[in-house]
Order: sequence, then structure tokens, then C-alpha cells
Amino acid sequence: MIKICKTIDEVRAEVKQYKKDGLSVGLVPTMGYLHEGHKSLIDKAVTENDRVIVSDFVNPTQFGPSEDLEDYPRDLDKDAMLCDDAKADIMFNPEPEEMYAAGSCTFVTVSGLTSELCGKSRPIHFRGVATVVSKLFNIVDPDRAYFGEKDAQQLAVIKRMVKDLNFDIEIVGCPIVREEDGLAKSSRNKYLNKEERMAAPVLRRALELGKEAVAKGEIDADKIKVLIVDTINSEKLSNIDYVEIVDAETIKPVSKIRGPILCALAVSFGTTRLIDNFSYGSREK
Ligand code: PAJ
Repeated sequence: MIKICKTIDEVRAEVKQYKKDGLSVGLVPTMGYLHEGHKSLIDKAVTENDRVIVSDFVNPTQFGPSEDLEDYPRDLDKDAMLCDDAKADIMFNPEPEEMYAAGSCTFVTVSGLTSELCGKSRPIHFRGVATVVSKLFNIVDPDRAYFGEKDAQQLAVIKRMVKDLNFDIEIVGCPIVREEDGLAKSSRNKYLNKEERMAAPVLRRALELGKEAVAKGEIDADKIKVLIVDTINSEKLSNIDYVEIVDAETIKPVSKIRGPILCALAVSFGTTRLIDNFSYGSREK
């Protein structure tokens, strides 16, 4: 049965015992409302570690003032069931006051990588992510931590942070899990109305066209972007925030595709902002 821990001390006591018993520990950080995408991370963690801890915490510091912190979907019972089915050992579900003690004023900032893509429209987002993930790393002290390629910029930021701050943790990237029609699974898909939900798979179709063009040898980033933008704009309900091609590691825009790249986009349907991406030249060919 999954054990639910609400306090940092409880998690630490469990981990202390694991380490004493010589067991390896995997961490899967989440904000809950778990779906098949999250489950793929937990499944991988379970195969690679003796014990798995899933954190389930809607982290206030990564939401901007006009974002959906209050409305972010929550379903703890369902989350606990999914963690249990996946054979995770602990679900760590602290209250915000437990994670952020009164007077808390220390943040982790990863510069450079966070100024492009989502960092432009969500200026404090990655500071909040890097801070809470660092705290989770310090609380759980895992051997490995699992992140989805769906949030490719987040994954790049975490990898950089681990390198720069000398965390002795292996960061494992996991492929994007999609609905049958190609829409990347996301807790926020729940916000889409029927028409928006029908329109949203255009993102995947547009990215596929872009990826095919790169595979055929197109190296001009602008041409790829135009192809993707035009495809998305053919859906009247879409509203593009960005479509960008960046260096996979530095997250700086490139004009010619010569090394590993990340092609990422953020597009709104109504008030729901969705992200998706493909990589080329590193993770996928
Ligand atoms: P959340 O959006 O809940 O996602 C938790 C993890 O699940 C992330 O690593 C994300 O990339 C992965 N994930 C989500 N949808 C996925 C999909 N369709 N396929 C594969 N992986 C998927 O990302 C966060 O939470 C937070 O920023 C967090 C890292 C927990 C820090 O608060």
C-alpha cells in the first residue's frame, strides 16, 4: 500500500531507513492530478530503483500572479490510487506551509536557459521550479530523478542546475506520452472545451510536419517555423504564444540546424495554454 507523507520529517525518516538498508531511491516530482504521462515516469522509476517517492505538490512559487494556481486541478485520492497501482512506495503531499517555512526567502535561479521560450511569458516560473526541485532533492536525497520531455525546457534547466550545484543525482528524461489523436497528455487538458479539445491536436500535426522537413535535410530554422506556424494558424481557435527552434542544451535560438535542437511551442486554445515540442539530433532522430 502506498504511504502518504505530509511532512518533511516523515519522508526523511523513511529515506534514512532505505539508505540504512542499502536501497536505491528514485524521485518523481509532480504537481498531482496524475495521468498516463506521470505514470510513465513512475513506471520507469520503479524498474530502476528499489524504492520510489512521488511528490504531489502544487508549487505556488512557479505560478505568476495571473496564472491558474487556485484553479489547478487536484484529486489526491485518484493520485494515491495511481501511485499504488504503479507500485510507488511513498506519495509526498505537503501543504505549502510545510514546504515553504514562514519567512522563506531563498530561491534558486538558473540564468540564460530560462530567458527564452516559456521564460519570456512566465518570468518567475523556472525560478519556482528550480527552487522546489532543489528542496525536493535535499529532502529525498534520491539516486535518480525522473522528468518528462514534454517540459523540455524544464528538463534542460534541471540538468543544468544539477551540474552547476553538484547534486549527485542522475536526471532521467522520459518520452512524451500522448492521447490517441496526438495531443500530449497534460493535467491542463481538462480546461479545454469540446471545440478546443478537437482543435488542439493540430500542435502535434504541425510539429510532425516540421520534424519531417528537418529529417529531409532542411536546415533553415525560419522555414521550419513558418511551416509550423501556418499549420497551427489554420485552426481558428489557436493563439500562438511562441514557436521556436533552440539549441538543445543552451536553449538559445538557432538560425541554422546543425546540431541537436529542440523545436518547442506554446499555443493557447481559449484560456488554456498548451506546450509541446520535438527534439532532433540528440534524443530522437
Ligand atoms: P507536472 O506538470 O505535474 O509534471 C510532472 C512531471 O511529469 C514533469 O517532469 C513532466 O514533464 C511530466 N509529464 C507531464 N505530462 C507528460 C507527458 N504527457 N508525457 C511525459 N511526461 C509528462 O512539471 C511539473 O509538474 C512541475 O514543474 C514540477 C517539476 C513537479 C515542479 O513543481
